[in-house]
Amino acid sequence: MSGLFHPHLIAVGLLAAIGLGSPARAQDSDAAAATGAVPAIAGEPDLAKGRRAYQRNCAVCHGPRGEGGLGPPMQGLATRLSADEITRQLKSPRGSMPRLYPAPIDDRLLLDLQAYLLQLR
Ligand code: HEC
Repeated sequence: MSGLFHPHLIAVGLLAAIGLGSPARAQDSDAAAATGAVPAIAGEPDLAKGRRAYQRNCAVCHGPRGEGGLGPPMQGLATRLSADEITRQLKSPRGSMPRLYPAPIDDRLLLDLQAYLLQLR
C-alpha cells in the first residue's frame, strides 16, 4: 500500500520544484530584459555595477562599506567632493592611490562608481 504514496510524493516534489523554478526563471528573464534595456538608458549610472566595481577595485583600501582603511573613508563623500573631483582623483590620483583609470575603471564604470560613491552614507 505504501508503494502508492511514492508516485504521489514524487509528483508533489516535482510540482514544488517547478513552483520554485519558475520565479527563478522569471527573475533571469527580468534581468535579461533589464540588460537589454540598458542601451535605451545609456546615460543612467548603474549603481549595482558601481558597487561591484568598488568592491573589486577600491574596497581593499577604502573599506568594504566605504569606512576607510589605507585610504580615507568614502562614506559621506558627497559632503566633501563633487563628481568632478572624484573623476580627477581617479584619473590622476593624489598621494599613494594607484591609477585605476582607464583600466580597469573605464569611462562607463567611472560614472557608475561616482553614482555609487556619492550615495554612500
Ligand atoms: C592601494 C590603495 C587604494 C586603492 C586600491 C584605491 N584608493 Fe582611493 N585613495 C587611496 C589613498 C591613500 C587616498 C588618499 C590620497 C591622498 O590624498 O593622499 C585615496 C583617495 C581617494 C579619494 C579622495 C578622497 C578624499 O576624501 O579626498 C577618492 C574619491 C578615492 N580615493 C576613490 C577611490 C576609488 C573610487 C577607488 C577604486 C576605483 C580607489 N580609490 C582605490 C588609496 C587607494
